[in-house]
Amino acid sequence: MSRIGFIGTGHIAAPMVRFLASKGHFISVTDRNTDVSAALRTELGVTVTDAQSVVDTSDIVFLCLRPQIAPDVLETLTFRADQQIISVMAAVSAQQLAQLCAPASDFVQTIPLGFLQQGGCPLAAFGNDTLLADLFQPENPVVSVSDEAALNAHFAICAMVPGMLDLMATGAAWLTEQTGDADAAEFYTTQLLSGFLSTMETGTSGRLATERDALATEGTLSLQMTDGLQSGRAHDVLRATLTAIGSRLETKE
Ligand SMILES: NC(=O)c1ccc[n+]([C@@H]2O[C@H](COP(=O)([O-])OP(=O)(O)OC[C@H]3O[C@@H](n4cnc5c(N)ncnc54)[C@H](OP(=O)(O)O)[C@@H]3O)[C@@H](O)[C@H]2O)c1
Repeated sequence: MSRIGFIGTGHIAAPMVRFLASKGHFISVTDRNTDVSAALRTELGVTVTDAQSVVDTSDIVFLCLRPQIAPDVLETLTFRADQQIISVMAAVSAQQLAQLCAPASDFVQTIPLGFLQQGGCPLAAFGNDTLLADLFQPENPVVSVSDEAALNAHFAICAMVPGMLDLMATGAAWLTEQTGDADAAEFYTTQLLSGFLSTMETGTSGRLATERDALATEGTLSLQMTDGLQSGRAHDVLRATLTAIGSRLETKE
């Protein structure tokens, strides 16, 4: 079992703490956010303390701060050369991390989502992917990437989650207009997509297109939908937005 510390105890730290605590690791977290840290102490018995004490008592340190405040917080802390650092912060580059956390030199940058707590969250990893795999696999598969640009592209793909939720919300709202039953409309729309995806085989490229083409055959409603989205330039908009998000992350490096 490892001694694991969290700097920044907010939305994304909490589910990781819960997952790692369930594995028996010894966990300390910074007191901010006080509501979240107090809840984790009550629920899991984690240690709540100041940031330097978290660093001092940890072998592995998670950095879970908002990017805009990360430099100010981290440059006040003293790290050790033997520590391993896991950053989940978008737009804080490997070079910045190396400067801010020196003399620590063992890093991995990743992109967790909150459902990691339940398992099934792919973790893109740039850096020490073995460290991440040791902590989160087999429940959450680690997907290694070769450079920081690729990691940033994965951050952009993560933004597709709220994008897709937004599209689904529009579909559910449209269905509600037809049926008058908002709860049933949202249940149906959500269960349809999640049920379909949960049974789909993953891991082989081309699978998405194969499943699409199996549905969208000549004369079907499915083909009317895929054609309509293509001709309405939905895919062009998606690509342009992914590129814009990727560029935004790159300019921060
Ligand atoms: N949310 C996600 O799903 C998600 C997914 C992947 C990656 N990330 C990344 O994770 C990072 C954190 O995101 P988040 O959504 O978890 O944000 P968040 O909920 O705002 O968490 C940030 C935490 O940092 C704390 N903090 C602020 N100043 C501090 C200080 N001086 N010392 C110690 N802690 C301090 C905040 O406490 P106060 O509330 O008291 O200010 C808060 O608990 C971001 O870099 C983001 O890119 C988030």
